[in-house]
This record gives sequence, C-alpha cells and structure tokens, in this order.
Amino acid sequence: NFPKLHDLFRDCFDIGAAVNPRTLDRAGDFIARHYNSVTAENEMKFERLHPKEDEYTFGDADSIVAFARTRGMKVRGHTLVWHNQTTDWLFQDKMGRPTDRETLLSRLKSHIDTVVKRYRDDVYCWDVVNEAVSDDGPKLLRPSKWLDIAGEDFIAKAFEFAHEADPSALLFYNDYNESYPDKREKIYKLAEDLLARGAPIHGIGLQAHWNLTRPSLDEIRQAIERYASLGLKLQITEMDVSVFDWDDRRTDLAAPTEEMVARQEERYVQMFRLFKEYRDIITGITFWGAADDYTWLDDFPVRGRKNWPFLFDAGHRPKPAFRKVAALADER
Ligand code: G3I
Repeated sequence: NFPKLHDLFRDCFDIGAAVNPRTLDRAGDFIARHYNSVTAENEMKFERLHPKEDEYTFGDADSIVAFARTRGMKVRGHTLVWHNQTTDWLFQDKMGRPTDRETLLSRLKSHIDTVVKRYRDDVYCWDVVNEAVSDDGPKLLRPSKWLDIAGEDFIAKAFEFAHEADPSALLFYNDYNESYPDKREKIYKLAEDLLARGAPIHGIGLQAHWNLTRPSLDEIRQAIERYASLGLKLQITEMDVSVFDWDDRRTDLAAPTEEMVARQEERYVQMFRLFKEYRDIITGITFWGAADDYTWLDDFPVRGRKNWPFLFDAGHRPKPAFRKVAALADER
C-alpha cells in the first residue's frame, strides 16, 4: 500500500517510462499505476516505422499509443531524426549510391509529415532530433549520413517539418552526456543557433543516462541553468542510474552490493531534490524503462550483464530509493 510515483509529483512534473510491447504485456498495470507518460523505446524510430520507401509499419507504435490512450497517459514521441536505427534506403538512390540533398530532405519531410500527423492527437511532444552533437573533438555535429548528404541544416529542417505537421506539438532536441561541460556547450550552441534562425524548438531533452558518480550534481545543475538560460523548457527523457561506473566491467554480481544500493538511493534523492527546485523549467521526468526486470543496460556496455538502475525492483516492488524519493514530494 504505497503511493503512485506520478501522483507524488503531480504538482511538479509528469513521470514517464520507456515501454515496448513486451513490457506493456508483462507489466501494463504496474506501468499505468506509477507513470503518467510513456515513450516508445524503439517502436517510433525510423527503421521500425518506415522500413521501405513505400511501406510504413505502424502496428507496434499504434499499440503503445492505444495503451496510453486507454490508461489516460501522455505520449512522448521518440524520435524523428537519428543517425542510428535508420534504414539505408533513405540515404540511397535505386542503385545504392548516396542520394542527393534535395531527395533526402523531401523524404525526411514526407516521413515527418506522415508520422507526426498520424499521432497528432496523442503525441504531445517529439524528440525531433536525437544525438546530433559530437561527443569529442572540435566539430559541433557528429559525422552522419544526414550531415554528409543534407548538410547541417537537416536539423533546422526537421524542426520546421514537424512544426508544419503539428503546430501544437512541443518540439525537443534530445541528447546524452548532456551534463558534461564540453558537450553541454555544444548542445547549447546548437540550440542557440536554431533559435537564432527562428526554428520552432521548444525544449531540450536531457537523456540522463547517469551512474553512481557521474555526472556530478553540480554538473547537472549547471547544465540545467545553461539550457534554461535560452528560455527553453527541459525534460529528463531517458533517466537511469547505473550501479556500475563507466569503466567497471565486472560481470560477477548476482545483485547490487549494499554500497551500490546506498549510493543509488542518495543519488536519486539528490537528483529529485534538484529537479523539484527547477520544476518551473523541467516539465517531465521519463525513465528509460520502468523497473529492474528489464533495462537496455542489461546489454550495455557489457552484453548480458544485469543492471539495477530504477526505483522499482525486478518484481515491480518499490525499492528503498522509491520511499526516499517519495518522502521528498512533501518537502518544500
Ligand atoms: O529486435 C531485434 C531482435 O530481433 C534480435 O534478435 C536482437 C538480437 O540482438 O536484436 C533486437 O534488436 C535490438 C533492439 O534494441 C530491440 O531490443 C537491437 O539489437 C538493439 O541494438 C536495440 O537497442 C536499442 C538501442 O536504443 C539502439 O541504439 C535499445 O533497446 C534502446 O533502449 C536504445 O534506446 C536509446 C535511445 O533511443 C536514445 N538514447 C540512448 C538509448 C539507449 O541506448
């Protein structure tokens, strides 16, 4: 007999989970109890929705949207433009050679128009462009076929096409390592450039794939302040708190250690306290999963290594971290 996570933070922000057909099948009631927003983990990505130029496959995405509708939950759309999980045909001509800029942009427009219009009654917010900024080096944008063929304004174009398809949708740029100073500045610059050219961008998504030590709370705060200074809304879009540091490649744990559990509790408390402080700017917190029985981190960065990154355990019971986060809800 414990409160619902999203109810606890009703006055602050939405609380979402990334879902897929398997997790909804297995845990639909649990997910609808604690979360009031969903994001499709893979099912709205380009390769899933649009495997061939003249063929769309909407089945899985439709069923996620139908679930959300039945349960009165919001839907975040993820994602219209990415360098990953995108089909080859998009970038090629019939002979398999790289296509030209005009064709690529017209295919992009057509994809965005079809997808955004199909879900306009349900998806209130889109990750229009995902992970376009480079992790290191002096270049702002990561190398990709989008950049090679269309040039850097594929990003602004995507925002324009999405806005034309649904003028009421909130349009986000979404990225990871978003709280590290170098990448933070690149993301800031990209958003600033988009605003300067009048592109319809409304927010920045902080993916928040974090762990027990990094990024520091101070780095997260600085990222929030910096992005917010552009006048954009922020959302935490893919949160998880891995119990392993990045270079810890141990594979021998059957359960998190006591120390990991204690540090994870502390991290969650610190982060939710911080999010609450910025509740006028942060409008949603989405976890990249719902409970410890399934997470993409079970396969990353070590294939088949179990991780325990959430507030609920593998049996969908609240972890002690949940209770501590719940206690924050009443804090002023
Ligand atoms: O569906 C196939 C299955 O048929 C096959 O047998 C199996 C064997 O590997 O692979 C399955 O596809 C996997 C797919 O997830 C569905 O489970 C892919 O290999 C795997 O690469 C894919 O991973 C997804 C990843 O994006 C791709 O980059 C993760 O589930 C998904 O959680 C992850 O999500 C991303 C966000 O979109 C963007 N931000 C980072 C985040 C985590 O990487």
